[in-house]
Parts: sequence; C-alpha cells; structure tokens
Amino acid sequence: MSTKKPIGVFDSGFGGLTILKEIVKQLPEYDYLYLGDNARAPYGTRSFETVYEYTLECVKQLFSMNCELVILACNTASAKALRNIQQIDLPLIAPDKRVLGVIRPTTEVVGKHSKTGHVGVLGTTGTITSNSYPIEIAKFYPNLIVHQEACPMWVPIVENNEIESEAADIFIEKNLNHLLSKDKNIDTIILGCTHYPLLINKIRKHLPANIKLLSQGEIVADGLVDYLKRHPEMEQKCSKGKTIEFYTTDSPENFDKAASMFYGKAIRSNHLEL
Ligand code: DGL
Repeated sequence: MSTKKPIGVFDSGFGGLTILKEIVKQLPEYDYLYLGDNARAPYGTRSFETVYEYTLECVKQLFSMNCELVILACNTASAKALRNIQQIDLPLIAPDKRVLGVIRPTTEVVGKHSKTGHVGVLGTTGTITSNSYPIEIAKFYPNLIVHQEACPMWVPIVENNEIESEAADIFIEKNLNHLLSKDKNIDTIILGCTHYPLLINKIRKHLPANIKLLSQGEIVADGLVDYLKRHPEMEQKCSKGKTIEFYTTDSPENFDKAASMFYGKAIRSNHLEL
C-alpha cells in the first residue's frame, strides 16, 4: 500500500489550478492530489445545500485517497461548505484531518493593502450572497468598509475562452462600474473567484490605475506556508515526493484541454467516479 499522503486540493472544476500552481511554486517538495468536480460545475450558481453536499462528498473522497490536509481552492465551496465541514463533519468523520479554505487567508491580509480603508470584493453569486467575505474581514479589520459585486458572467467567459472578446469587456466594465458606483473610495479589490486572475488584464483596463487588485494564488500559498510552520504535527504527516496527480469527475480529455490555460502548462488527468 502507498505511504503517500498528498495534500488534497479541491475545486468545482478547473479554477483551483490557479491556486495549486502558486502553492506548488512555494512548496514544491510535497505530494499533491488535485480533484476537480467538473461533472457538477459550476458551483457558483448552486444553493448552499447543494454546494455543501458536493463539497463534503469530494472532501471524503480525498480523505479516502490518503489526504490528511485538504485545501478548498474554490471560493464558492469555501463560502458555503467550509464552516459546516470544519465544525460538524470533521469531528465525526476525521477528527485528526484538516480542511482549509481560500477566504480566510485573503481576508487576513486585505487590510494591509488598503490605504483608504474601503475595499471591494468580486465573486460568484454564491460567494457574494453568502456574505462570507464581509463577515471574515470584519473579524480581522472591523473598521474596513466592504462593498461586494457578483459577476455571474465572468466564469462562463473564461470557460468558453472568450477572454479577449468584446463581450468580456462589456461585462467586466459593467460589474466594475457598478462596484465603484457604490463607493468612490475603494482602493483595493479582492478577486474572490479562482477564474478571475485569467481576466486580470481586462479588469485592469477598466479600473483607475490607483486601485490594487488582489489575486488569491500567492496569498493562499503564503497562508499555507505559514499554516504548516504553525502546525508541525500536520506538516510531518504530509509526504514529500514532489508528485502531483490530477483527477476530474468528468472527461479527462476535456479537462486536459482546458487545464493548461489555468495551470500554465500541460497536464494529464484521470477520471474519478464519485
Ligand atoms: N471555483 C469557483 C469559485 O472560486 C468558480 C467556478 C464555479 O462557479 O464553480 O468560486
């Protein structure tokens, strides 16, 4: 039996690859197992109950594949499922295993970036309606003023490779103008969705130059480095063989075709039946 204990990285589909890429850059020595639930993506428009059910199923799957530590590299899953999994499920099914999300590391640092104390958050409808960002930000920076904007068209634009299209400009401009119309003093915007870093050039084009954009990949990777330092008992459990395996619940051929856009290089995935 394999003694490998990879760090599990979960996303609804491709998007978490933008997070995994940065994690591997900073922590190349570990083994990783990526799972994309492409067969049931997108999660961004689904109900709380559905996102929780799907995410928990995938977390259990990663646990059964020897992961001691799982990162929910998906904002929607972090917003809608993480708290329940950490508080209700983990103590029952795997008290020694850990599941972390992408929202907390981002909200921990946002206040260091803003000079005006006014920040914006962009995300899927699910992430924005959950209010997870304002709730988490208030824990670390109670005086920050936070405005949010759901951008439901941005994920389909990326997934359909329409990044360079006029349609992309129209929707990006519309959502950014709407966000800034709520508060002219916003000087920092969180890209609270795994797909948005792929739109960063277009987003910049439609924003005043003084506004800072926070992409999550590096922030989440920094957060994981810090977590592993603070939790040597978990760090020692994670195996270090420098392997990365990719699994998708949909067709590996389709996954591999689109994955390089998110991961920056070609990958070979395997099918996983849940
Ligand atoms: N990965 C999701 C997120 O970060 C976006 C894609 C989806 O809606 O499933 O919110």
